Amino acid sequence: MATEQKKSNPFRIHGVATGESFADRVAEVARLEAALTEPGSKLIVYGPRRMGKTSAVLRAIERVNKGGGYAFCADLSTASSAADMSNRILAAAGAVLGRTLRDFITDLVSRLKLSVTLTADPATGLVLPGLDLQARDWDAARQREALTDVLDALNLLAQKRKITIGIALDEFQEITTLGGEKAEWHLRGAIQRHEHLSYVLAGSRTRLIDRMTGEAGAFYKLADKMPFGPIDASVFAAWIDRRFRAGGLRTSGAGKEIVSSAGPRTRDVMQLARVCYDRARTLKHVTTKDIEAAMREIIAEENDLFHMQWRSLTPLQQNVLRAVAAGEAGLTTRQVMQRFSLGGTGSAANAAAALIEAGLLMRDDAYSGMRVSTPTGYAFDSPFFLAWVWWNALQDLGPTLAQQIREGPLRYDSGPR
Ligand SMILES: Nc1ncnc2c1ncn2[C@@H]1O[C@H](COP(=O)(O)OP(=O)(O)OP(=O)(O)O)[C@@H](O)[C@H]1O
Ligand SMILES: [Mg+2]
Repeated sequence: MATEQKKSNPFRIHGVATGESFADRVAEVARLEAALTEPGSKLIVYGPRRMGKTSAVLRAIERVNKGGGYAFCADLSTASSAADMSNRILAAAGAVLGRTLRDFITDLVSRLKLSVTLTADPATGLVLPGLDLQARDWDAARQREALTDVLDALNLLAQKRKITIGIALDEFQEITTLGGEKAEWHLRGAIQRHEHLSYVLAGSRTRLIDRMTGEAGAFYKLADKMPFGPIDASVFAAWIDRRFRAGGLRTSGAGKEIVSSAGPRTRDVMQLARVCYDRARTLKHVTTKDIEAAMREIIAEENDLFHMQWRSLTPLQQNVLRAVAAGEAGLTTRQVMQRFSLGGTGSAANAAAALIEAGLLMRDDAYSGMRVSTPTGYAFDSPFFLAWVWWNALQDLGPTLAQQIREGPLRYDSGPR
């Protein structure tokens, strides 16, 4: 016994999911892979945060490259200017294609209209291109030109070598945040004429993406759209149970309970499963009891953050959160308005809208792929904040009411997913 090696936790939540720690997404990865290899194709992948978009995109890219194709992903989420975006694209292209395509970097650089600097990357030994240091101070028009110059050069290079290069731009909607609509139209123009590239544009700011792809938006009818929803609940539950077993634990249906407690976001489910595993590993058996304990452990760790979030809200917004957590009936029903002091129907709706804006709530039908259904029509963004409200902020209603509500189960939604 003492010599038995301690197995590592089979649920990973840091970075993106890879290898064995990657669950399902068979259909999504296949579609992404096809999109990344078909010349001229354009696909917009959008869905709420923590769903697993980036992990799926990277998995598809890995498969394309392993299969002899060419694809890379540039993460635009931290960019502060269009010049930063160009740098990200240049570096990602160099790091991935610099390994598989002979003379890729010199070829790419020779096709650029603008001048670039080359720097040896100590980690990989590759020489990576980047815009001149002053580029971030260029005016907006010049920065936009630089971005299309980079993409044009990749297209020319692909044409000359008779290959297709798949480019994934993660959090592509930031182009609008940084460069406004002009940059958006500029990028559309470039993407449209690149017959030797294929584009996957992924993003999580769904309302902005809806606007960009709507009738007046620059990306209207440019690309196919792929909503990125939750992993099928029963597939995910079975996968979690298999991973528990692979990690040396017996399980009697914990997977199903974990999926329904943690809601639709892949990361939240993985986080809950991870803590359950750590709690259950000594007894080598994970039970539904571990799930509530794990949930409490997570919210205890996040207590400061949740408390601060709570304190930043107005009393009415706090009451709306209590009503959504209690999940009895719609916010505009008389009983709910009275029980939770929601004022009139208009004020409750306004408070809910502000909570959506703040990223704490979402409408349960916000994204067709989410398949969430709640009595109030609203769902918490985070199942852990929901649990925090349930255990910490219902007490304020007085013991009678709090107890009455807590007689029902704490659940993320009310319908099967
Ligand atoms: N298919 C999967 N199998 C297992 N874990 C996954 C899977 N997809 C995502 N995850 C987990 O969820 C976390 C979030 O995933 P990822 O960053 O890919 O999501 P995202 O939708 O791109 O989120 P964001 O909008 O925040 O960028 C990852 O760190 C990973 O732990
Ligand atoms: Mg992402």
